[in-house]
Amino acid sequence: MDKLHIAIIMDGNGRWATAKNKKRIDGHKVGSEVVRKITTALSKNSLVSDLTLYAFSTENWKRPKMEVDFLMQLLTKYLNNEFETYLENGVKFRAIGDLSRFSSKLQKAILKLEEATKQCSNLTQNLALNYGGKDEVVRAVKKLVKSNQEISEVTIEQYLDISKPVDILIRTGGDLRVSNFLLWQIAYAELFFTRTLWPDFTEEELLEIIKIFNSRERRFGGLSQKNQKQGDLNV
Ligand code: FPP
Repeated sequence: MDKLHIAIIMDGNGRWATAKNKKRIDGHKVGSEVVRKITTALSKNSLVSDLTLYAFSTENWKRPKMEVDFLMQLLTKYLNNEFETYLENGVKFRAIGDLSRFSSKLQKAILKLEEATKQCSNLTQNLALNYGGKDEVVRAVKKLVKSNQEISEVTIEQYLDISKPVDILIRTGGDLRVSNFLLWQIAYAELFFTRTLWPDFTEEELLEIIKIFNSRERRFGGLSQKNQKQGDLNV
């Protein structure tokens, strides 16, 4: 069986902070610690090969400048300071999204960590930065048209930031939407929505979700195994 690709929309940092009379940015700070914990936990889980995290969307630029600036600083600091955690846990780092809008400082931190961890093989952590699912498809199609190849699902997929389909999409924070995240790759993903705010999300809740996922039957547009057998007899 192929190893799993888990994608997470990490929502609820702001509400977590407000409920505790803290500033929204404190929620993001604690959120970044949860990123470390969840990534470390999955690096030791032999069922999972890829973890894709929505850290900054193409729409997040609309937030107050102070919050955007803080998130940029937090990301840069995190990527610069977490080298050891990535290497010790065998986690390969990749950034996905349109990185051209970021400061050269952040772009450098991204490239440095990607280069340093490229041989790591326990888990790939894809961090979605200035990422939008529609934007990803447009960027892929533009490259494909330039290459003069035939347009097909296979060739579009080759040019996406990430081609591995998502198996499990989790959204924390209680909202029931996918917010322009990995629109192509979640075509047949199993969706999990939890009210838990991202700073409160734990390894235990994640393992429970994987357990429920394993008990679901995925049909990919076909029939269930039981109906398939009956169908074979009835046609
Ligand atoms: C959504 O919560 C969260 C974000 C827009 C940013 C996600 C960032 C982190 C988890 C921390 C930074 C990550 C790394 C890897 C250093 P929200 O602010 O929309 O929360 P709300 O819905 O409660 O307002």
